Amino acid sequence: MKNTVMTLLEQKQSGDKITMLTAYDFTTAQIMDECGVNAILVGDSLGMVMLGYENTLPVTMEDMIHHTAAVSRGAKNAFVVADMPFMSYQISVQEAVTNAGRLIKEGGAHAVKLEGGAEVCEQIRAIVNASIPVVAHLGLTPQSVNVFGGFKVQGKSLDKARKIIEDALKIQEAGACAVVLEGIPARLAEIITKKLAIPTIGIGAGNGCDGQVLVIQDMLGMTTGHTPKFVRQFAQVGALMRQGISDYISETKSGAFPAEEHTYSIDENVIKEISEEEN
Ligand code: KIV
Repeated sequence: MKNTVMTLLEQKQSGDKITMLTAYDFTTAQIMDECGVNAILVGDSLGMVMLGYENTLPVTMEDMIHHTAAVSRGAKNAFVVADMPFMSYQISVQEAVTNAGRLIKEGGAHAVKLEGGAEVCEQIRAIVNASIPVVAHLGLTPQSVNVFGGFKVQGKSLDKARKIIEDALKIQEAGACAVVLEGIPARLAEIITKKLAIPTIGIGAGNGCDGQVLVIQDMLGMTTGHTPKFVRQFAQVGALMRQGISDYISETKSGAFPAEEHTYSIDENVIKEISEEEN
């Protein structure tokens, strides 16, 4: 079954949890789609996990279109959401609509995601008016890492919690079809989820949200170094890859690979003729 804005909304209404994962390439998107994930986010986290940047700020529109198009080719039923990168929607409403349109037309996405609350409502309204669904993103919004002074949990104080609730209501009023709640206390996410008619998708926001999203490399155990508290590693793919690559190196060096079954045969007479010509 195709996942759409309507089916995601119905999932909220019926209490069927929405599953979303990030993907940045065709093969991964195809596997996720086969598994039946509801939505695939082509996150600007690709700057960190695919391109090796320290944060998401250097990611460009060209990066996003390139990876979104690959994911869209692999996703047959999942709802594909493409992140609007830093500075692709902040400068003007007109630029925001143009760039959102590119992610749909050139990337094949079904919706775009952008970070922020009241300050981006004008952009949300204009993009939705252009018939493009918008997913909002509140809480620990990674494009504001320099304002937050690091990747820190948001909304813990009364003022900050109130602001996130107000922003959630405003982005809904502006026409957002869903909202990602990242790095906020679980109790706060639960309150927002109850207040909103649109689905909330949490990452580091507890299980009171209407759905969950994780970065694929994190949840498959492929990332090294610090992993945030909210990540659960559902598989140890990094360890499997290391084992497979080490086995390849040692078997290639020893000559055990390629074996007979990996090689193509040829008529002995051809070899005989060639050998005679060579001599
Ligand atoms: O860029 C991304 O992957 C995201 C998720 C972490 C929600 O925005």
